[in-house]
Amino acid sequence: MGLNEIAWDDYKDLGLYEKGKFLIDGNHVEHALIAQQFGRKELDYLGELATKIRFIAKTREGMDFLNSQLPHKRAMLYFTQPSTRTFLSFFAACQILGLRIGNVRDTATSSEFKGETQEDSVRSFSSYYDLIVMRTKKKGLAERMAWVLANSERPIPIINAGSGQDQHPTQALLDIYTLQRSFEGIGGIDGKTVMFVGDLARGRTVRSLAGLLTNYAGVKLLFVAPEQLQISDEILKLLDDADVSYEITSEFEERIPEANAIYMTRIQDEWDAHKGESAKVDTTKFCFKAEHLDVLKKDAVLMHPLPRRNEISTDVDHDPRAVYWRQMRNGMWIRTALIANIFAVDKSILNYENQS
Ligand code: CP
Repeated sequence: MGLNEIAWDDYKDLGLYEKGKFLIDGNHVEHALIAQQFGRKELDYLGELATKIRFIAKTREGMDFLNSQLPHKRAMLYFTQPSTRTFLSFFAACQILGLRIGNVRDTATSSEFKGETQEDSVRSFSSYYDLIVMRTKKKGLAERMAWVLANSERPIPIINAGSGQDQHPTQALLDIYTLQRSFEGIGGIDGKTVMFVGDLARGRTVRSLAGLLTNYAGVKLLFVAPEQLQISDEILKLLDDADVSYEITSEFEERIPEANAIYMTRIQDEWDAHKGESAKVDTTKFCFKAEHLDVLKKDAVLMHPLPRRNEISTDVDHDPRAVYWRQMRNGMWIRTALIANIFAVDKSILNYENQS
């Protein structure tokens, strides 16, 4: 079942899990657009592949092998919203696999400045490239573009690198990969308590990760935020439907000892409807400070999608439980794994030892 087999008006009104069925064909990702397209099988598989890539990349011979996988492919990184990590980790992931890379990061330098629509821009990129990775402030645009291209003469894959306040599926993949690695020796992600803190109303990373955590048995989610920035009813409904246990609270410090993972987020004031709106919300008690390390479980992890402002004190960075820098690097490995899967070189990578 592909996006070329359904009318746009029918696709756009489907539920997220129903949409997911149009984006994956067996073990093969056709487009990476929403977190809900990834089930436990895909998460385990991509994690295993990322780990294999990470190990292969440790040697010169291994890097040469990885570089030889996709030198015949070209990727367009179309980022019309600011980004450091997502852009650079996709750039690096493409380099690891040997893809050539083009990019548009500012519409002032593309023909959108002259009034071209984003839809026409993406169709233009598809004339020259084999993969489009796109970040946009428009909710649903990546999905729309994947459908448009699937029904064009250049049906190339699209990866959503962040769409509005809505979805950031590859951030959720790297977050899950980080949790998989962190909890490897202590029973995996099943049964763990994950605490989300900060701007839960407008943070797309939280929405996408909460969606992926529905794949794990017995997890409990704690949503910790000031009332104005609490998680939306739409996400709570997804959790209810998946029978995932959660709690909503404004108590931060008191709940730290319960958490196996704490996922801090910054205030997303770029989405303020009125300038200065976020500054009126008191977020001072939703900051992780060095003193909190004393009450954090010994095997817990402190995560952040980054960039941060002041919600994690830099005094905490030295603690081995502060994994946000490793989390960021994991993004490069899991995105490499995703691209390898999209272009079907994953089996060759998993068989690497057999070839040497
Ligand atoms: N986490 C994340 O999406 O970071 P960037 O905005 O820097 O890409």
